[in-house]
Amino acid sequence: MKQREYWSSKLGVILAVAGSAIGLGNFLRFPVKAATYGGGAFLIPYLIAFVVLGIPLAWVEWTLGRYGGKHSYGSAPGIFHVVTGKPWAKYLGSLGVIGPLLIYFYYIYIESWLLGFSWYALTGELMSAVHKSTVSELFGNYITLKTTLFEGMPAALFFFILTFIINFGIIGFGIRRGIEQINKIALPLIFFLGILLFIRVLTIPGINRGLGFMWNPDFSSLLKPKVWLEASGQIFFTMSVGIGAILTYASYIRKDQDVALSSLSSCAANGFAEVVIGGTIIIPLAIVLFGVDNVEQIAKVGTFGLGFNTMPALFGKMPLGSLLQFIWFTLLFFAGITSSISIIQPAVSFLEDEVGWKHGKSVLTIAGLSLVVCLVAVFGLSGGSIDELDFWGGTFSLVVFGTIEAILFAWVLGIDKGWEELNTGSHIRIPRIFRFVLKYVTPVYLIIILIAWMITDGWGFIVLKGVNPSDTVTILSLTIKKVVFITSFRLFLLALLIAANVIIFKVWKKRPLKPLVK
Ligand code: PHE
Repeated sequence: MKQREYWSSKLGVILAVAGSAIGLGNFLRFPVKAATYGGGAFLIPYLIAFVVLGIPLAWVEWTLGRYGGKHSYGSAPGIFHVVTGKPWAKYLGSLGVIGPLLIYFYYIYIESWLLGFSWYALTGELMSAVHKSTVSELFGNYITLKTTLFEGMPAALFFFILTFIINFGIIGFGIRRGIEQINKIALPLIFFLGILLFIRVLTIPGINRGLGFMWNPDFSSLLKPKVWLEASGQIFFTMSVGIGAILTYASYIRKDQDVALSSLSSCAANGFAEVVIGGTIIIPLAIVLFGVDNVEQIAKVGTFGLGFNTMPALFGKMPLGSLLQFIWFTLLFFAGITSSISIIQPAVSFLEDEVGWKHGKSVLTIAGLSLVVCLVAVFGLSGGSIDELDFWGGTFSLVVFGTIEAILFAWVLGIDKGWEELNTGSHIRIPRIFRFVLKYVTPVYLIIILIAWMITDGWGFIVLKGVNPSDTVTILSLTIKKVVFITSFRLFLLALLIAANVIIFKVWKKRPLKPLVK
């Protein structure tokens, strides 16, 4: 059997997982969620979810992933089967291969906007839009492919393809020379640029008011279930847990190398980048310039409005504005890349380890498949393609798959074995209370979240409550009913999941289980 790769060092995997976690979620999604749900008050349910959901699930993934790697399995289907000894578990694992791809299909398009906007910051185009107050037009035309870069080539498509090639180029170089290497460069850069902006914002006169809003709790919002749901959703998304990304990364760890402390280190790095850096830049800055009374208005422009319109405008008002804009978008772009590669890798590992294909063939297959779906997402933006992917990948799959993992770990494998496996090679003594948390609190909390979310948001979205039956969308000059577009898109996503299950079925028929690697 072919030798699998390993991370070259403990630091390598810690940085890779931190790189996966630190992304657009930290610098765009978190500040907007926090501002929408009560500023400082949001942090309480957030921190609770961090302790009872985020940290335990990260441990579960690192532990199961390392275990699977010992048997040469690198993605959820193989890992679940070998860990639990239950043949049915591998089918549940299919969500850990397709789920990450669903996030990837739209995440990479947004990532490419950042590259485009770094370019506009450099050329000064962004600055002149700020002076003419046309930034939102620039952005709107850009993402709907109306802006061309050169003869007939939409700018957004150009930067998308460039971003796509960069992503698959990195994956092509493999775990050590590709993923590990880029994280070793990008992570220090992200922190450096992030701290630079952080300091710049902190030295603005009157910033105290903005910081006060972010950090003074308003406890009344704690009574709203929605705040708890959103805080837990944010923990999932930002920490990259509950989707299979960490599972795959952890499968490349050496046999008895520590997972307990390494996992905590990545969680801490992500928490710092999110709460300290992400929590300081956008919202406090917006408050200083627009006043605290307008904060709700500010948050309402949404994640992209804030990131792509408000921020360039705010930085544009400061000395060296273009440079600050450039730093902002470059920071986000690098944060995005280190995340997006982590959601491609599970599918690549699946083809390599479970199906048995060569690296090159696996990478090219996933690249070809994702190019097609990404283009549907790019051209179908106005039809709601990104919302669909964000719902099924970035929300639904996370919670469902996270629940599956938690239950498999604590109840199917069993907490005794799970705990022992987690502590093997550990550099710290994990407080025993976490045994209890892993066994009861995390699964119960997850099931409650799942049900509550289905009732409040999930079901309405699934039955297309917000879509008017007469709405139409135009994609590449083809006009169809929005309902038809969304339904076909969903069926296609479902077909992907079914295809993964068929492949799993066929592959296992040929070769039931792989032995332990010496
Ligand atoms: N954690 C990433 C972010 O904060 C997004 C992500 C989610 C990446 C799930 C991988 C898996 O932007």
